[in-house]
This record gives sequence, C-alpha cells and structure tokens, in this order.
Amino acid sequence: MEQDINLNRLSTHLSRDEKQCVKDCIAILDWSEQRSKRIMDKTHSMISAMRKHKRKIGELDSFMQEYGLNTDEGLALMTLAEALLRVPDSQTANMLIRDKVTSADWWEGQGKKGSDWFVKAAGLGLSLSKMTFQSLLSRLGEPVIRQATYQAMKILGHQFVLGRSIQEAIKRGEVDHKKGYRFSFDMLGEGARTLDDAQSYLKAYHHALDYMSQHNKTVSAKDSHLRHAGISIKLSALYPRYEYAKHHTCIPDLYDKMLSLCIKAKQARLNLTMDAEEVDRLELSLDIFERLLKSPQLDDWNGLGLAVQAYQKRALPLIDHLIDINQNQKRRIQVRLVKGAYWDTEIKHAQVEGFKDYAVYSRKINTDISFLACAKRLLDRRDVFYPMIATHNAHSALACLDIAGENQDGFEFQRLHGMGEALYDNLRKDVNVPVSIYAPVGTHKDLLPYLVRRLLENGANSSFVNKIADYSIDVSEVIKDPVQLTLSQNQYRHKCIALPENIFSNRLNSTGLDLADDETVKGITHQIKNNIYSKNFDFQNFIHVQSKQSKSLSSINPANHEDNIGNIPIIDEQDISYAFDQAYKAWPKWSAQDIQTRAKICENIADLYQTHMVDIIGLIMREAGRTYHDCVLEVREAIDFCRYYANQSQAMFQPL
Ligand code: FAD
Ligand code: 2OP
Repeated sequence: MEQDINLNRLSTHLSRDEKQCVKDCIAILDWSEQRSKRIMDKTHSMISAMRKHKRKIGELDSFMQEYGLNTDEGLALMTLAEALLRVPDSQTANMLIRDKVTSADWWEGQGKKGSDWFVKAAGLGLSLSKMTFQSLLSRLGEPVIRQATYQAMKILGHQFVLGRSIQEAIKRGEVDHKKGYRFSFDMLGEGARTLDDAQSYLKAYHHALDYMSQHNKTVSAKDSHLRHAGISIKLSALYPRYEYAKHHTCIPDLYDKMLSLCIKAKQARLNLTMDAEEVDRLELSLDIFERLLKSPQLDDWNGLGLAVQAYQKRALPLIDHLIDINQNQKRRIQVRLVKGAYWDTEIKHAQVEGFKDYAVYSRKINTDISFLACAKRLLDRRDVFYPMIATHNAHSALACLDIAGENQDGFEFQRLHGMGEALYDNLRKDVNVPVSIYAPVGTHKDLLPYLVRRLLENGANSSFVNKIADYSIDVSEVIKDPVQLTLSQNQYRHKCIALPENIFSNRLNSTGLDLADDETVKGITHQIKNNIYSKNFDFQNFIHVQSKQSKSLSSINPANHEDNIGNIPIIDEQDISYAFDQAYKAWPKWSAQDIQTRAKICENIADLYQTHMVDIIGLIMREAGRTYHDCVLEVREAIDFCRYYANQSQAMFQPL
C-alpha cells in the first residue's frame, strides 16, 4: 500500500523543557491533599500486606537483595549476562566467564541472609562454578563452565519466562488463569540482525496466534484462559534495520508483516499490542500504528494496541495525538501505559550523541507524575481508549484506581510474569478490575536483553520492587507522594544528571544532531542543498582572503564568504597542497604564540566548527560521500579534539 510517510508528529521532544513538562502533568492531575492522603494510606496498608507475604513479593526480589548491583557479585552477573549476549565465539565467552566467575564471591553472598531456594540455587550454581573452577577446568575444560553459567542464566530466565514454547506457556499459565489473570504473550526476540532472524521471529508470532486460535476453538469460550488474551510484539524483532535512516524500506515492510499478524489476531478474537522500544523508534512505530488503524481490513477491531512510555517528555502529547487520530474511528485503542524500560540506555545515548537535552525525564518522580497524568488522560477518555495500566508500584496502581473514580470499568492492570504477584494478588481481593500478565515465551538464547532490563529494574535502588524487598527500609520510606514531593522541593531536574553538553568537568561536549528526528534531517538537507559548498566554491580564494586579511583563524566564517564563490566544484589536489603551504607558512608565527593564545584559537575553531557544523557536513558529504551520521561524528571529533587539546595544553604546558 502506497502511503505518505509522516514522521513528524511529535518531533520537538528534545527541546521540551523538563520543568514545563512536569508542570503540565501536575496541572491536569487536580491533586488535592485529601486525594494524596487517601492514596498514601492505602499504599502503606498495601505495602504492609505485601511484606507479610514475603515469598510472594517475588523470588527475584530476594535474589537482588543478595546480588544487587551494588555488590561485586551483582555487577559480575550483569556483566556476564550482558556480555554473553554479545560474545559471538565460545573462546572469548570462556575467557569472560573465567574473569567474572572468579572475581566474585558467590558463595559468600548466598550465605548471608538467603533462605530462599531460588537465591540458593542461583548462588549455588554460580558458586559451584567458582569453587570447582580450577579442577573442572583441568578435567573437563571451559565448555562445561560455559554451560554451567548458561545454566545459572536459565535459572534466572525461569523466573521471567512462562514457557519455552507457546504450548508450554499456555499450560504453565493455567495456575494464574485459575486465580483470574489474563495473558499477553510476548514471543522473545528483538533487535533482529538479519532478515533470516526477522523471518524466524515473524514465524514464531504466526505460530503463536495459530496455536492460540486453535486452542480457543477446542476449549469452550468460558473455560479458555485465552479469552481476552493477546500477544505483544517488538517491531525491532521483525526487521533488521528498524531505524529512521531506513524508514522508506522498514515502514512498508513492517506494515505488511504487522497487518498479516493483526488480521490473524482479529479473526481469532485475540489482542495485539505493539511494545514501546527506544525513543528514536517512536515516530516509526506511530506511522505503522496509524496505517494499521486506518486499514479497512481491521475495521471495528478493538484489539489493536500500543505501549506508551511515561518517562518520555512527549508522553502526554502522544496520548493527545492518539485521541486526534482516532477521532473518526468507531473503535477503542488499547493503550498499555508503562514507565519505560530503557531509561539508562536513553540517558547514555543522548550523552554519546551530544543531544541538546534528554528525551526522557531525569528524575524518577517526574516519570511517576507523568505516569499519573497519562493515566488520567486515558481514564478520562475511555470512549477512545482501553487503558492497560502496567506497573508493579503499589502507589502508582492505587493512585490510578483513585483517578479512575467510581467507574471502575473499561480498563485493566498489567504486570510482568515473575513480578508484581504480591501487589495484584492483594489488590484483587478488594477490587474487581481485570489484571493481565505479560508473559515472555522463548528459550534462553533470546532472553538476555529482556533479562538485563529486568535485572536493572529489580536492582535499581530507586525502583519500587527493590525498596519493598529490603525490609530494612521503613514502609513510610518506600514511597512518597511524587506530586507533593515535587511541589514542596520545587526541583524539576535531577541535580546530578548534567545536560549532555556539560558531562565533562573541564570542557564542553560537542553538540550532535538528532538524526532520527525528521524535522532535523529535513532542515539540514535543505541547508546543505542551498549552502555555498554545493555551488562552486573557491577553496583557495577562501583561505587566501583569510590570510591576507591577517585575521586569526577564529574569524573564519564560511557563511560570510558567499562572495568568494568561484568555479571550482570540489576541492582538488592543488587545493590540498595550497592548504599545506599555507600551514607551513603560518607555522613560525603560530609557534611563537604563547600557550593561552594557541589554546584560545583552538577553542574558537571548535566553536566555529560547532556553529557551522551543517556546512562542514555538506562539504564532507561532497568530498567523501559519507552518510550524515559519519559526517556528524567526524565534525564532533574535530570539535572535541580542539577543546580537549586546548584544555590539556593549558594544564600541561604552563611556562615555568
Ligand atoms: P517504579 O519502581 O515505580 O518505576 C521504575 C521506573 O521509573 C523505571 O523503569 C523508569 O522507567 C523510571 N525511572 C527510574 N529512574 C528514573 C529517573 N532517574 N528519571 C526518570 N525516570 C526514571 N517497558 C517499555 O519500555 N516498553 C514496553 O513495551 C513495556 N511493556 C511492559 C508491559 C507490562 C505489562 C509491564 C508491567 C511493563 C512493561 N514495560 C515496558 C516495563 C516497564 O517500563 C517497567 O516495568 C516499569 O518502568 C517499571 O515501573 P514500575 O511502576 O513498576 O516501578
Ligand atoms: C521489555 O521487554 C516488558 O516490553 C518490556 O522490557
């Protein structure tokens, strides 16, 4: 289907001011003291109830208390889990395992306070690997150790994965079904690297839908625990280059694949929700989602949904946008409201790319507030949405119930398999709101990215599930009302998370360009097409004029030299020789300058490169045929070098 691609729905997210975003959220919340107190009282009772059911809080929670990210063992485990995912060959995997397993004291950790079988089993698995490492190594070799480590990972995986196949998952899900839970199955797999990988993940989804559909036919609708069930899909599993730069190919391909899955889901009366992944994929996923919404084959189907991440500063505008696009449709959109599982990645990504600001909130309580504001918007518009409130945080869940008001129909809660049991087992005693379980299905080879996110989530000391499992933290300390706290502190940004430009203590970080942002890319393309380098640019004259006028390098401003445009289309060998000649000639004068002057010139060059980044990108593209991303990296490297050496030289070469 030919359709215009529109990737410019919410594109100004990076420049959204965090303080303003939080204020917008608070403004729609209508947060009174009575409401705050009511929710806090209920939350405290809930936390006490959850703590009485220690084992139900979650075995992993107690595991994280033993092997948290603040322990050597926890860090080693994380590194191991994450690195094993990336290591392609067994030899390197063996070296890594040897390093990590022997550097931590698994046995010690296991004995401290653990009486939980799960903690013991995982600790034992890992500690056995350590204690017998030398003898095993000499007798059996590293492959055995590698297998033992994978085994430990499997133990962890068992906590989070409902079954290796859809058949197994459905069977294992019967216990929770009997308790009244619903299911959304997630066929593990994401970030496909090849078309073959993407094809096999697609096949797994088709197989799951076929099997579920068949299951529903053989079991009476009343008894089937797949009534109201569905699947959750990560688009990155279905196409290897699911990224802005490839939007012309990935969007039509993903649309076709998703349409075929949606048609199957619709026919089988199952739901289908698109997971939310990294923020730079939001616009792509929205385009695909809108196409699906408008597809005549999916008319009147209420089962289509998507996840919205509250930690994004554009979460509320996104919900408003969904209201707009659903205006003329006769159906409800299912929206799974989550806080977001990629926070660390997003922060690091923005710093590495040198963005102006972060796309996500910098303070956890800002995300909590955004979550409540989004929930309010969704719950107020249950004519447009079927809200699926996905949280393991007792305060967030109880606040959403309060926001829903007397009408407790038309929405549900969701939790991940292996998490949030104590919360929802308790909640469901008093409240008649449906609860679904997001249930991953697959083998350990596809588990690791998911597992790492869960370990991060469970291990972070700011996370609700981490705090509640630590009995040394008083109930009143586990949770604070995020709105009240923000208003009383009048603080909106995290004090310790500097903007990407300021992450170095002694120099500015170079600023990059968001090349997943349609507006940015269109802007620079327009500028490059129209700038001086695309016309005939007289490079020698350009340098000549500079040196004749005896200006310092800091005065070079390519934008001011339109008059110098001559007939040379691109720089040739003569130009290069000329540039070198000029450099040689300038050398004695340059060498005679004191270090401060030279450092200042370097800093000025950096600033000019920054100001004229797009013009220089145009030049590099013409000269070397590079992609935007490579060009940006090239210019940023030059800027960083100039600033770095200016800084270092002043520190190291002061006259005696
Ligand atoms: P809390 O402990 O209250 O919140 C933890 C969250 O706060 C972190 O995950 C992060 O989002 C946020 N946070 C932490 N520190 C900061 C900080 N300094 N600044 C700003 N924010 C911060 N996640 C996805 O990304 N995409 C999905 O499609 C998705 N699907 C899910 C489906 C279900 C059914 C569930 C239950 C979760 C899903 N998640 C998804 C994961 C979800 O994002 C996390 O489980 C959730 O963020 C944890 O929030 P909480 O309310 O349970 O815990
Ligand atoms: C994740 O994969 C649950 O979608 C969420 O982390």
